[in-house]
Amino acid sequence: MTPGRKLMLLVERMSGIVLPDRELQRLTDWAGKRAAICSFKDTSAYVDALRRNPDSDEWRVLLSRVTVKESSLFRAPQQFKCLSENIIPELVDSGRRSLRIWSAGCARGEEPATLAVVLNECLGGTNVRWSVVGTDVDAEALEAARRARFSRRAVRRVPAESLDRHFTTHAGSYELNSEIRRHIEYGLINLVREPLEVPGQPFDVILLRNVLIYFRKESQARVVRSIEQLLAPDGFLLVGPSESLMHVAPGMKAEERNGVFVYRRRHEEESPPEVVANRKSREPQGSATAPKPLPAETTRFESDGGAKDWVAFAVAGRQAEIEEDLRLALRYYRASLYLQPDSYQVCYRLGLCLEGVGWSGRAEAEFRAVLEILRLGSGKTLAIFQGPEFPTRNEIEAACREATQNDAMS
Ligand SMILES: C[S@@+](CC[C@H](N)C(=O)[O-])C[C@H]1O[C@@H](n2cnc3c(N)ncnc32)[C@H](O)[C@@H]1O
Repeated sequence: MTPGRKLMLLVERMSGIVLPDRELQRLTDWAGKRAAICSFKDTSAYVDALRRNPDSDEWRVLLSRVTVKESSLFRAPQQFKCLSENIIPELVDSGRRSLRIWSAGCARGEEPATLAVVLNECLGGTNVRWSVVGTDVDAEALEAARRARFSRRAVRRVPAESLDRHFTTHAGSYELNSEIRRHIEYGLINLVREPLEVPGQPFDVILLRNVLIYFRKESQARVVRSIEQLLAPDGFLLVGPSESLMHVAPGMKAEERNGVFVYRRRHEEESPPEVVANRKSREPQGSATAPKPLPAETTRFESDGGAKDWVAFAVAGRQAEIEEDLRLALRYYRASLYLQPDSYQVCYRLGLCLEGVGWSGRAEAEFRAVLEILRLGSGKTLAIFQGPEFPTRNEIEAACREATQNDAMS
């Protein structure tokens, strides 16, 4: 095995991060340079030293090199809206006098800063105390987080009034004011190291957004199992809007709040039931077409058995699309549509995936179904398919018309 490949495996063992093969050459070149700087005989000796010294300072350099710290304040704003309008009021109504929120994998502090703004605006002037803990495996990112200075790009989604109120401008950068910054604490924590212990645990809310996407399913499952133990029994776990814990968190159940997907701890008596074959027709009322049978694989999906499962399947479908596993996406989207036949967005995504795997006839049938759902005006909209990267309802309608036009003329 080449030293570069060994290093990739070592990175995964240490941090859970699976580097894509296209990174191999760049990582090998980088390791060669580090070997020279650190006076090792060659890259092999450098990799070997890392393997033998998991606590060495060089790991700090390496982890900073391999982690992706893409983030911004108010990233996925619908989740923060859900926090301020739904989750925080519910936690306060439960009688809490203090709230603790953990941002796991907090990058350069964008997420903790957002949480601090939201909590201040929700709880300022009340007698509920609050604190935010931000942790990351990258020590350099944490140093930046503690400085709490953000670029214009990073704050672009902060509402103007909040930006004005909570930040001070310094030559093009925005510094979070100390009055709310003092509620945030930072710590170096590697989520894959066991036992996982975080000062301030248990937490009322944990944000684990855009971190697990770099891990293999087994590591995701291990991390979620550890994190679950640090969540208050009635707490909330949020992952990124296009992530799903469906296959990796038997101890958690999904709930939809204002179009946002949240996870809660499943209590002992609630074992995860299987999805039962649902014979509900996908066809709009009045259609003569018989429903397709539920794909056999669907019966193996974990489910919390409620009507919200269609959202869980849709999220899982989106995740599979992101991972470019279109066949898996097809299965999830089909399962979602069996439970909720009126989602024109899921139906449209299913059509796109069918097209992607070369089944254009079946894709057209889905595009026709989208038009039928929209014609009947019964279409259900899902927040996870809204945003700049997704077509609007009108655009979907236009695309489906175009895709089915030849057919309509024949
Ligand atoms: C893409 S950023 C996500 C930042 C923020 N949560 C968001 O959604 O905008 C991923 C972060 O996860 C961190 N990370 C990756 N592996 C980790 C691990 N094993 N333990 C803790 N943090 C990790 C990275 O250092 C990086 O800062």
